[in-house]
Amino acid sequence: MCGIVGYVGERQIKPVLINCLSRLEYRGYDSCGIAVSRDGLKVYKDAVRVNVFDKTLPQLLDGKIGIGHTRWATHGEPSQLNAHPHCDCTGKIAVVHNGIINNFQKLRRQLASEGHKFISETDTEVIPHLIEKYYEDDLEEAVAMALREVEGSYAIVVLMAGEPKLVVARKDSPLIIAIGDRENFIASDVPAILDYTSRVIYLEDDDIGVVSSDNIEVSRHGVAVDRKEHQILWSIGDAQKGGYEHFMLKEIHEQPKVIRDTIGGYVSATEPVASLAIAGGTGLEELLILACGTSYHAALIGKYLMEDLFRVSVRTELASEFNYWGHASSRSQSIVITQSGETADALKTIKRLKEEGCRVIVITNVVGSTASRITDQIVYTRAGPEISVAATKSFIAQLMALYWLALPYAKIDIRRLDSLVAGLRQLPGKVQQVLDNEAVISEYAQQLSKSENVFFIGRGINFPVALEGALKLKEISYIHAEGYAAGELKHGPFALLGSNTPVVAIVARDNTYEAMLTNIKEVKARRSPVIALVEEGDEVVGEVADSVITVPQVEAIFSPVVNTVVLQLLAYYTAKERGCPIDFPRNLAKSVTVE
Ligand code: AGP
Repeated sequence: MCGIVGYVGERQIKPVLINCLSRLEYRGYDSCGIAVSRDGLKVYKDAVRVNVFDKTLPQLLDGKIGIGHTRWATHGEPSQLNAHPHCDCTGKIAVVHNGIINNFQKLRRQLASEGHKFISETDTEVIPHLIEKYYEDDLEEAVAMALREVEGSYAIVVLMAGEPKLVVARKDSPLIIAIGDRENFIASDVPAILDYTSRVIYLEDDDIGVVSSDNIEVSRHGVAVDRKEHQILWSIGDAQKGGYEHFMLKEIHEQPKVIRDTIGGYVSATEPVASLAIAGGTGLEELLILACGTSYHAALIGKYLMEDLFRVSVRTELASEFNYWGHASSRSQSIVITQSGETADALKTIKRLKEEGCRVIVITNVVGSTASRITDQIVYTRAGPEISVAATKSFIAQLMALYWLALPYAKIDIRRLDSLVAGLRQLPGKVQQVLDNEAVISEYAQQLSKSENVFFIGRGINFPVALEGALKLKEISYIHAEGYAAGELKHGPFALLGSNTPVVAIVARDNTYEAMLTNIKEVKARRSPVIALVEEGDEVVGEVADSVITVPQVEAIFSPVVNTVVLQLLAYYTAKERGCPIDFPRNLAKSVTVE
């Protein structure tokens, strides 16, 4: 997720582009750049934040038409070469892009064989070269021809030297045109333009727009279309949150798209995203999965998943503990999970594993992060920037990476594999169903918000979900919460139960179902109110639990996904009920860069 902008009008171009970009940094902030057309194209870009970049630019930048970009790297580390805008061989065409070109390698090989020279590692750079290839004297036509060859998602703004207009297009990536008085703006999202106007047009998929200072034309598949003008009433702050009250709620609602983007980035279920040698008779003896916090809960789910699919034993370790007591060897394979890629404990673990001759796969959400640079193999999640300290969408993206990492090695027959892959592709819709049930889930927040102690219980692959539910509630509502393997409550914590200590029970439709029912009855016998998460259509659990929250039916190994989203919403609304600073809770940091 990047931020792209464009401007054509009479204002000083530099302050407009810089201001618009700074309003979009919540979409990505690892590098940025602009291009201005005046007596040819002038392109400036670097791997710095917008405010630092602004100071490196010439005081006065002539020009009345320009484009800009603030980046969240997906292909190619944050660097000056990989920053946008990207240009063609003539240096006359500049493009800024938000999205992912899935077939860029094929296009790159084709164009290189036709003599095009590429200088960056990005997927985006194929676009200006394709436009150059098809350009005769009509920029719009050349863009349309180029996009016919592109597979993937894109929002682009194209600037050509000497052209008094910008050409824009979108497919599966947001793009707006904002209307001013003898000026027009282009942006990925409304926060960028609210300082100048509140009149916007939302482009739709496959739209191509031609924008000059006093004219806007939109067409689709070559036919002119009329796009309705909207009046924006939001403040910039609200707009950055997409109209949601907090980044956390916005990020929870982004998860269907994050699942699509993350698994969409992986080619096929039979083509491994990384070589998991342990699963294939290579003399490697053990698989370790290591991480911290929420990422560690993903690691635990990875353990249950891989032990189930590969029939090998998997060891999980807290990175902070492993660094002092843990051991590994050249006969171990390891996976280190870290959203930020900068968590000190995780980095120390990677270095230690490598010193012990262990092969390391890193699963991270940040391209170019330290973890991505010191590992042997890298698997990226595509959750986009996660602003809220409490990890939500990045966790679900980590689960997608683990499913995709594991499936090619699963010791199951091809029909079972196909049904699991089909189940995975249905997950965005299933998560949307949970989100559509938000109002019901928020009602239970009332009850929890009055408690000082809460237990979350689950079994099997949903035990780590209980841990994650407790962590989310702790982090943002400041309620003391514990996640427990349901079978363990009777070995001590029962002493804490009672009418003021609610228990949230995750009841999956798998081999632990009956045991969970028994545990709920045991908890009820000790007067704790029970909120149970059950699969839709279940008529039994509601008989024993005080209240139930239903989740859509999914394969057992995917149940952590839908159950976690329920617990994210439960934590969010409980914290909201208690008036907590949800996005930036006390005493916490988004990336813990100290031991
Ligand atoms: C989760 O909500 C927290 N922000 C925290 O536990 C986090 O998961 C932990 O610090 C690990 O961060 P990482 O995934 O960036 O390494």
